[in-house]
Amino acid sequence: MRDTNILVVGQDGILRPLMKTATRSTTVLVFSMLFIFGALVYTLLLPSHLIFGGTPSKSILATTENNNVPKMPPKQIEIPLNCTAYNLNKICPNHEEIPADNQDRLPSSTCPDYFRWIHEDLRPWAHTGITKEMVDKARKTANFKLVILKGKAYLETYAKAFQTRDVFTKWGILQLLRRYPGMLPDMEFMFDCVDWPVILAERYGGSNSNNASNVPPPLFRYCANDATLDIVFPDWSFWGEMKEGNKRTTWLKREPYAYWKGNPDVADTRKDLMKCNVTHQQDWNARIYKQDWIKESKEGYKQSDLASQCIHRYKVYIEGSAWSVSQKYILACDSVTLLVNPHYYDFFTRGLVPMQHYWPIKEDDKCRSIKFAVEWGNTHQNEANSIGKAASDFIYDELKMDYVYDYMFHLLNSYGKLFRYTPTLSSEAVELCVESMVCNVKGRERQFMMESMVKGPAITNPCTMPPPFDPPSLHENLRRKESLIQQVDSWEKTSSFGRAEINIKPWEILSGEMKEGNKRTTWLKREPYAYWKGNPDVADTRKDLMKCNVTHQQDWNARIYKQDWIKESKEGYKQSDLASQCIHRYKVYIEGSAWSVSQKYILACDSVTLLVNPHYYDFFTRGLVPMQHYWPIKEDDKCRSIKFAVEWGNTHQNEHIFL
Ligand SMILES: *[C@@H]1O[C@H](CO)[C@@H](O)[C@H](O)[C@H]1NC(C)=O
Ligand SMILES: *[C@@H]1O[C@H](CO)[C@@H](O)[C@H](O)[C@H]1NC(C)=O
Ligand SMILES: *[C@@H]1O[C@H](CO)[C@@H](O)[C@H](O)[C@H]1NC(C)=O
Ligand SMILES: *[C@@H]1O[C@H](CO)[C@@H](O)[C@H](O)[C@H]1NC(C)=O
Repeated sequence: MRDTNILVVGQDGILRPLMKTATRSTTVLVFSMLFIFGALVYTLLLPSHLIFGGTPSKSILATTENNNVPKMPPKQIEIPLNCTAYNLNKICPNHEEIPADNQDRLPSSTCPDYFRWIHEDLRPWAHTGITKEMVDKARKTANFKLVILKGKAYLETYAKAFQTRDVFTKWGILQLLRRYPGMLPDMEFMFDCVDWPVILAERYGGSNSNNASNVPPPLFRYCANDATLDIVFPDWSFWGEMKEGNKRTTWLKREPYAYWKGNPDVADTRKDLMKCNVTHQQDWNARIYKQDWIKESKEGYKQSDLASQCIHRYKVYIEGSAWSVSQKYILACDSVTLLVNPHYYDFFTRGLVPMQHYWPIKEDDKCRSIKFAVEWGNTHQNEANSIGKAASDFIYDELKMDYVYDYMFHLLNSYGKLFRYTPTLSSEAVELCVESMVCNVKGRERQFMMESMVKGPAITNPCTMPPPFDPPSLHENLRRKESLIQQVDSWEKTSSFGRAEINIKPWEILSGEMKEGNKRTTWLKREPYAYWKGNPDVADTRKDLMKCNVTHQQDWNARIYKQDWIKESKEGYKQSDLASQCIHRYKVYIEGSAWSVSQKYILACDSVTLLVNPHYYDFFTRGLVPMQHYWPIKEDDKCRSIKFAVEWGNTHQNEHIFL
C-alpha cells in the first residue's frame, strides 16, 4: 500500500496505471470471501486495459532503479544474417560484434504473475540440484537435447517430432539467445515435443524430494497436469504461426451462441460435446462444427483460420488428446471463452482466473452448462463483454512476445543455476545457429522464421522475476479458483432453464449483512461526487479533508459530512448505516487515528474508493492494488486529487473501479 503509484497518460490520452505487477494478483488471495467477490465484480467490469494496461516497464524504470541521471538508451545492435557466407563452409558465425552480457541494458518491470509458477515447476530439484544422471534419465522420451555453452547452442537429435514442432521450438530458443546474449548459464536440457506429460509425480514422491536418487528427471515439454512434473515451456506456435490481425467485431454484433469447431475424434470429451449442438428439438445455445482438414487444406485453410473466427460472443475451449495450442487464439478473440474444465496446463494458463478471464464449463454436464453460460452472458452483456476483454488483454499484454522470451529466459536461467556439473559436448552434438536453421529452408517455414527473427540484443533487461508463492498464498490461489468454479456450479443448479431471467450477479455472493443491507443503486444513477462521512477530530489529515467540501466559491466534487454520533444514536443510527450509504459513485477512505474498520465496507460498496494514501495496513489491505481496487488520493493535495479523480471517473464511466 505504501508503494508510490505512478500514473501516466498513454498515447491515447487515457490515464493508465503503472503498477508493480508483483502485487497485482498475488493480492486478492488474502481476501475473505466478501472481498474476493468484490474483487471479482470489479474485475468483471473494469476495462482490462486498466488492469493490465500500459507498459509497466517504463514506470519502474523511471522511479526505482534509476534515480540518478537518466541513462542513455543503449544502442540497438542488429545481428547480420549472411546466408551466402554461411553456405560457403556451413560454419556458424561467431558474431563478435555482439557484446556478451551487456551491462548497459535498461532495467525492466516485474514479470506477470504467472511467472511465479516457474518456482513451482523447478521445485523438485530445489534441494538436490540437477545432476548429469537426472538429465540422462530424461532422454528416454526426448526428441532432442539442447546444450548451451558460453551462449552457444548445440543440438543432439533423438527422434523427429510431429510436423515442425521441434523446429520452431529450437528456433525460439535461438532467438532467446540472440535477445539476451551471454546471459544464460551453461546447461543442457531434454525436450519432449509430444503432447502428453510423462513424469509421474507419484513415482517420485511428489515435488519436494530430498532424496537425490528419487528425484524426477527434468524434462521439458509444452504441457503438464497436476499428476506430473514435466517442466512447461512455451510452445512452437509462438514462432511457427504468427498471430494474425485479429479482426474484432464488436461484441454485441456477434452471434449470441457458443461456437466450437475442431476434430472431435481425438478425445471422448469432444465427442460428448457434439451432443450439445442445436437440433430441431433442443437448443443448448451451442453451434458445434467438425473440422474437415482434408477439405480445408484444399481450400487453403481459409475456414479454419482461427483469427477469422472471432465472430461469436462465446467460444468453447475443450482439450483434445491433451492441451491444445488453440487456447490462446480462442482467448485472444474478445469472445467469452467457455472453458470446459481442463486437465492440463501450459506455461501461462495457470495465470487465468475463472469468471475473470473465462467462464467455467462442467465437463460432465456440458450442454446445460453451456446453455446457462450463454444465457447469463446474453442477459449480463457488460459483464460478459468484460470477461472476453480481460482474456484478450491477458493474451495481448501478459503474453506478448517480450514476456514469452522473458519466461523462457527465467525458466532456463533458474534451471541452469541448479546445475551441479558443466555439460560437455558429445560427438553427436552439432552447433545450432540461426544460419544453420534458416539458410536452407524455403517456403512458409522460411517465411515464419524470417518474420519471427530477433534482430539483435534487447536494450532492456528481462522483467524481474516475482517471488515464489508462499505455501498459504499458493493454496489460497487454488482455493479461490476452485470456489469461483463452485459458485458457477451452484448458480447452474439453482437456475431454471428456459427463462431468461437468470438474475444472478457475482456480487450476490457477498455474504451476510452487506448482502442484506446493501441496496445498490446502479453506478450511473448514483451521486457523481466523492462522499465522506465520519469524525474529523481524530486526525489532522481528516480535518484537512474538510477543506475539500463544496462551498459557493469552489466545488472540489466532494461532499463531506461530519458524523454526529449523539444525534444519530437517538435516531437509531439510520444515517450512518454503512450499507445504506452506497449511493455515491465515489467514496473517500481516509485513516483516522490509525486504520479504520470502515475500509472494508467502503470497498464493498461498488463505488470507486478514493483512498487517501494510507499509513497503516490490516491483514487484507496489502492485497489491494491501486487503479485495480481503488483510486489513490494524494495526502498533501487532497482536494485537487479528489477533484481530478471524480472528473476522470465521470468522463470514463465505463472504466470506473468497482470495488
Ligand atoms: C556475405 O558474405 C559474403 C561472403 O563472405 C560477402 O561477399 C558479402 O559481402 C556478404 N554480404 C553482406 C551483406 O555482408
Ligand atoms: C531414496 O530413494 C531410493 C529409491 O526410492 C531408496 O531406495 C532409498 O532408500 C532412499 N534413500 C533415503 C535416504 O531415503
Ligand atoms: C450442428 O448444427 C448445425 C446447424 O444445424 C449444422 O450445420 C452442423 O453441421 C452441426 N454440427 C455437427 C457436428 O453435427
Ligand atoms: C459540506 O457541504 C454540505 C453542502 O453545503 C453541507 O451540508 C455539509 O454540512 C458540509 N460539511 C461540513 C463538514 O461542513
